[in-house]
Amino acid sequence: MTHEQLLWWQSGIIYQIYPRSFQDSNGDGIGDLQGIIQRLDYLQWLGVTAIWISPIYPSPMADYGYDISDYRGIHPLFGNMDDFDQLLQEAHNRGLRIILDLVPNHTSNQHPWFLESRSSKENPKRDWYIWEDARPDGTPPNNWLSVFGGPAWEWDEQTGQYYYHAFLTEQPDLNWRNPEVQQAMLDVMRFWLDKGVDGFRVDVMWHMVKDKELRDNPVNPDYQVHMATYEQLTPIYSTDQPEVHDLVQQMRAVLDSYGERMMIGEIYLPIQKLMTYYGPDNNGAHLPFNFLLLSMPWDAQKIASAIDEYEHALPQRGWPNWVLGNHDQPRITSRVGIEQARIAAMLLLTLRGTPTIYYGEEIGMRDVPIPPDEVQDPQGLNMPDKNLSRDPARTPMQWDGSEFAGFSATRPWLRLGPQYKRPHVAAQKEDPHSQLHFYKKLIALRQSQPALLVGDYIQVHADHQALAYIREASGAPALLVVLNLSHKPCYLAIQHRTIAGRVLFATDETLEGTAVVNRIQLGGDEGMIVELDEDE
Ligand code: GLC
Repeated sequence: MTHEQLLWWQSGIIYQIYPRSFQDSNGDGIGDLQGIIQRLDYLQWLGVTAIWISPIYPSPMADYGYDISDYRGIHPLFGNMDDFDQLLQEAHNRGLRIILDLVPNHTSNQHPWFLESRSSKENPKRDWYIWEDARPDGTPPNNWLSVFGGPAWEWDEQTGQYYYHAFLTEQPDLNWRNPEVQQAMLDVMRFWLDKGVDGFRVDVMWHMVKDKELRDNPVNPDYQVHMATYEQLTPIYSTDQPEVHDLVQQMRAVLDSYGERMMIGEIYLPIQKLMTYYGPDNNGAHLPFNFLLLSMPWDAQKIASAIDEYEHALPQRGWPNWVLGNHDQPRITSRVGIEQARIAAMLLLTLRGTPTIYYGEEIGMRDVPIPPDEVQDPQGLNMPDKNLSRDPARTPMQWDGSEFAGFSATRPWLRLGPQYKRPHVAAQKEDPHSQLHFYKKLIALRQSQPALLVGDYIQVHADHQALAYIREASGAPALLVVLNLSHKPCYLAIQHRTIAGRVLFATDETLEGTAVVNRIQLGGDEGMIVELDEDE
């Protein structure tokens, strides 16, 4: 494959926007669509090529938009459909693609479908959700737990049955075994595709089908008290059922009928299982999200073997992808420290496959501590003793040095970090050595080097400090990437390969242009990309 043959989502870089926190345009302290429009020039300047926007639909906001009450509308907090059409147009004018969040597993309990479904046992939509009788002793039909704490079954007094909710009680799960549900959701996809949306990030794809017999989940022997209560069981019957793949293929077929559209699946599963979501004939999700780097210890050897395992597990035409963070996870800068944030960026942007950047990563935003009485996230509120709130990674984007960081004219919905320590776009834009410029340069490099876009991945070294690999495509210079994941200087002798070349890009800019022959040394927290001489 040559880089000219790549599709937009293969050669592109995705940028995730959490819309409540990106840019407020109307002074209510909450981000909105007009705010995103105002920042499109910034995203274009940065060099990303697609935007994934977390849910913007009407919602009671029990789970901040992941509880949808109308799949075809825009929440007034974010604007209206004209704003959305304008966003789509303006993004496309700048060559930026738009990926929407699709939440097919569950609706809000305020969605008209659920209101009908719960109105009576005879209602035609009763079977659109998962209703079950109590066991003879009145307890729930099985032992399944909610991801957000407590049992996954909620008793409905009026109709005398339980309904299933993998997440909040306000988020009843749809019954995807019902063909009417399938058609309704495929129609939702068509609605947005007809408008010109370029793709979807599909929420909790691996949850969509549950065991027909609703068997009890087994106890997880590795559970520890600090973990979410959900982890007490291993969810082998409530998630990742074989039938899910037929549904994913149906969704894919809809996308394919529109030409070059794409689908990312949110799937937290071990590698071998994750791979099945590419579909038996590459007819499943285009990109089953690869979350390896979200949970790996920051250890060069462990990361090297994980990359290897992932590379080898990929199906033949399966396109890889990598992420460092998202709205559900601690920010990378907080996880690995500011010293390693640039190394993480180099990893993300030099591995094989599509990278997704979480807003704020490019300026080194950190998790912001949110005092208990300000916690918004239901996951945090429901399990207050476990420190599981996702708010710290969802704080407003830091645009400038003003009181509300240029995000809003008023106090934002979630507090900002301390002002004197707050990295921001305005200052970093002025400073050519900032993390923001580092990202911009790295992005430009990735997009201009065929070896990074389509080259093979060849691991050449991993020890307790550093990791090195070569990216190589025919007809283009091969690149050697060397990353020091430790704070101490490191010394590498690459085996089985003669190394000769010139530094193309480095955390220490003074190294750029210098020659590298065989032995490599790097300072703590340093990384570099070497363009190898052609005869190597
Ligand atoms: C996904 C979303 C998360 C949400 C959950 C329930 O994991 O990323 O934010 O709370 O689904 O919809």
